[in-house]
Amino acid sequence: MIVSIIASVSKNNVIGNNGKLPWHIPEDLKWFKEKTIGHFVLMGRKTFESIGNPLSGRKTIIITKNKNYTHSGIYVFNSINEAINFADKNNETELFIAGGEEIYRQTIEIADRIYLTRIHRNYEGDSFFPEFDADKYRVVSRKIVDTNPLIEFLLYTRS
Ligand SMILES: NC(=O)c1ccc[n+]([C@@H]2O[C@H](COP(=O)([O-])OP(=O)(O)OC[C@H]3O[C@@H](n4cnc5c(N)ncnc54)[C@H](OP(=O)(O)O)[C@@H]3O)[C@@H](O)[C@H]2O)c1
Repeated sequence: MIVSIIASVSKNNVIGNNGKLPWHIPEDLKWFKEKTIGHFVLMGRKTFESIGNPLSGRKTIIITKNKNYTHSGIYVFNSINEAINFADKNNETELFIAGGEEIYRQTIEIADRIYLTRIHRNYEGDSFFPEFDADKYRVVSRKIVDTNPLIEFLLYTRS
């Protein structure tokens, strides 16, 4: 099973502010949906609560330390490893890790792929994408989209 991170990141490395995405870019939301549709998508409890619902057409996994956490239409795990093993055992081919910061930090070292939307503007924020060693990856696809702000879809794979 391929383990992929998917994230949108501003020029100054921001991914969130006050529990929310600091931008609304429909092209990026469409990209996220296209990539993740049909797959397990893993996220932290805070990101899930900011979205509010399971993602339609995807199998949503929530990570929390709370042993009693429940919500309809989701799978809940108390550890990231358990969740990854669960997806693997359920015939997943590519699991998507969809944030937020705490979850990206704990998975950046194990991700096989990073689908990164670079947003070519600075934003104020309180959540950031972790530094990663670009030498360990190669860019296998790059697509610039002429939105406002300009965005760039990058796919990194571990080299
Ligand atoms: N730009 C993007 O692509 C993108 C994507 C996703 C999210 N975001 C943004 O990121 C921000 C949220 O990030 P965040 O770091 O605050 O929160 P988060 O990573 O979404 O969730 C953190 C929570 O996950 C649980 N958790 C984390 N590690 C765990 C572990 N090892 N075992 C068990 N549970 C664990 C804990 O839940 P409990 O407290 O319940 O135990 C923790 O409080 C928001 O602003 C959101 O909009 C941006």
